[in-house]
Amino acid sequence: MQDIVFRKVVAERFGGPGVLRTVTAALPTPPPGHARVRVLAAGVGFTDLMARSGDYLLQRRAPFTPGYELAGEIVDLNPDGPTPPGLGTGVAVAAALTAMGAYAEYVTLPLWQLVPLPDGLEPRLAAAVPLDHLTALSLLDTHGRVGHGDAVLVHGASGGVGQAVGALGRMRGLRMYGTASAQGSREALARYGTTFIDYRHEDFEEVLRVREPAGVRAVFDHIGGANLGRGYRVLGPGGVLVSYAFSGRPGRMVGDTMRGAARVKLMGLRPGRRTALSMVPREIAADHEGYRSALAGLLALASRGEITPRLAAVRPMEEAADVHGALERREISGKVVLVPR
Ligand SMILES: NC(=O)c1ccc[n+]([C@@H]2O[C@H](COP(=O)([O-])OP(=O)(O)OC[C@H]3O[C@@H](n4cnc5c(N)ncnc54)[C@H](OP(=O)(O)O)[C@@H]3O)[C@@H](O)[C@H]2O)c1
Repeated sequence: MQDIVFRKVVAERFGGPGVLRTVTAALPTPPPGHARVRVLAAGVGFTDLMARSGDYLLQRRAPFTPGYELAGEIVDLNPDGPTPPGLGTGVAVAAALTAMGAYAEYVTLPLWQLVPLPDGLEPRLAAAVPLDHLTALSLLDTHGRVGHGDAVLVHGASGGVGQAVGALGRMRGLRMYGTASAQGSREALARYGTTFIDYRHEDFEEVLRVREPAGVRAVFDHIGGANLGRGYRVLGPGGVLVSYAFSGRPGRMVGDTMRGAARVKLMGLRPGRRTALSMVPREIAADHEGYRSALAGLLALASRGEITPRLAAVRPMEEAADVHGALERREISGKVVLVPR
C-alpha cells in the first residue's frame, strides 16, 4: 500500500471562518485495525463552528480538521483480528468520529468505527445521520429514559439535533414541545407533532404550566445558564434535565461550559428529579458495540425513509469557510453536507 496524497480542510488557528484553509497532505498506510476511507460526504454541525473558534470543551489543538461525521468508501484496510461484519474494500460506510477530522478527501479510521451503509442509502443523506441522531438517542434513551406518552421539552428543536429528537421522539410516541425561532420552524416541528414555542415571544415555563400542569418527563437543554434552572422547574416528579451543550460568552465558552456542567451536577443532588450530561463523542469511545448497533439501526431507518434528515445545502468541501460563515450569520438554517470535488 502506498501513501495517498489528498486534500483536507484545516483550521490553522482558532478564529472566524477565514481560518479554514484547504491543504494537501499524505495519508500513510493504515495501521493494524484501521482502514483508509474515501470521503463521499461530511456533515456539518454547530459543534464544528465552536471547535473552529476554540470554544469547545472537547477541543482539538490547532491546526486540526473539523467534522464529526461522514459517509465514504473503504479503499483499503489492515485488519488486526476478525474484520467487523460487512466491511471490506469498496464497501460504503458511515461513521461518527470521536476526535473530528471528516472535512477531508480521505481519512484513516479504526475498523470498529465503520458501519456499512444499507443498499440504496445516498451517501449525502447518510452523512447527515450519525452525530445528530446518535445525540438524539443519547438524550431520549440513554439519559432521558423516556417512553410512550411522556411529555418532553427540547430546546433548539429546529436544529440538526433538535430535528433528530423530533423524528425519533415521534416514533416513541412522545408528546413534544420545542423551542426555536427560525423561519419555518412551526411547519418543520409540526412534521414530528411537536408543539412549537417561539422563544423570542413566548415563555416556555408559562406555556408548559398551562399545557403540562403535572410537569414534563424530560427537558433537553443546549443553552445552559439560567435556562437550566427554568428547565428544572418545568420537570414533573422523577423527571430529568439533560444538558447536551452550553452556550457561553464569546471566547469564554469552555469556562462557561464547565460552570454549566458543574451546575447540572449540583442540581442532580436535589431529591425528586435527575440531571444528566450528554457527551456523545465520549459515549461512542466508551462503548464501541453500542455505537455500531445504534448507528446501524439509524442508517436502516434512513434507508427505509423512516428518518429523513433535511439537507439545507450540499456544498463542495473547499467552501467550508463560506458554509461556516453562512451558518454563523444564520443565512442557512438546517443541515449542510460537504462533498469533496
Ligand atoms: N451532546 C453532544 O454530544 C452533542 C452532539 C452534537 C451537538 N451538540 C450540541 O448541540 C447543539 C445543537 O447542535 P446542532 O448541530 O443541532 O446546531 P444547529 O443545527 O445550529 O441548531 C441549534 C439550534 O438552537 C436554536 N437556538 C438558538 N438559540 C436558542 C435559544 N435561546 N433557545 C432555544 N433554541 C435556540 C436555533 O434555533 P432557531 O434558529 O430556530 O432560533 C438552532 O436551531 C450545539 O450546541 C452542539 O454543540 C452536542
